[in-house]
Amino acid sequence: MNDKQLVALQAAKYVKNGMLVGLGTGSTANYFIEELARCQAEEGLKITTVASSTISAQKAQSLHLPIIALEHISSIDLYVDGADEITPEMTLLKGRGSDLVKEKLLAKAATQFIAVADESKLVSNIGQNFSIPIEVIPFAWQLTKRSLEVIGGQGDLRPNAAKDGFWVTSHGSYVLDMKFDKNLNAKTLNDLINNTPGVVEHGIFYGLTNAVFIAANGVVSERWA
Ligand code: A5P
Repeated sequence: MNDKQLVALQAAKYVKNGMLVGLGTGSTANYFIEELARCQAEEGLKITTVASSTISAQKAQSLHLPIIALEHISSIDLYVDGADEITPEMTLLKGRGSDLVKEKLLAKAATQFIAVADESKLVSNIGQNFSIPIEVIPFAWQLTKRSLEVIGGQGDLRPNAAKDGFWVTSHGSYVLDMKFDKNLNAKTLNDLINNTPGVVEHGIFYGLTNAVFIAANGVVSERWA
């Protein structure tokens, strides 16, 4: 069993009968979805799920997990998702994919949000390994980019896969992938980007995680806030 699978299985131990469970997106979240399906089939686990992306919804459906639409919920019991970066303060960077709007909504709506990852995701500062993905209203991208440059951002629109246009998220936004001054801490950066007109959502998950589970060389460690 690899580390991503191991940490996903550990998070699945926190899923109890009757819960409404948020499903993350990515390879680690996929292992979590598979484990929920196994528990349902083999141990009679009774849960309802809500997905952070179309791809996770499809996976859950294919494994016969009961799933409801985000439109129909106002809170959930537990959300489990991976991350692209995790700091010692349990701030996350997410949104390498196209689904950070739903991911952040579920993280905020959850009574408990557990981030799961292997140790490759651990960083000292947010933005250490990746640019910050910032979803912007398409018609406002130039104005928003300028505002972000004024606070020290450098970057550009994410190209589409064919490199002949721009990437469009599942929410219909463009993405500015931006680097900022390393001396800006996560809270300051979070506040500054939140305060920029034209920004739909961004990949810094500040103050949202209740726990971070990390697997390293076959051993899982849990850190709770
Ligand atoms: C999706 O938008 C991301 O936030 C993922 O949660 C992240 O990329 C983790 O992916 P892996 O579990 O595949 O590493």
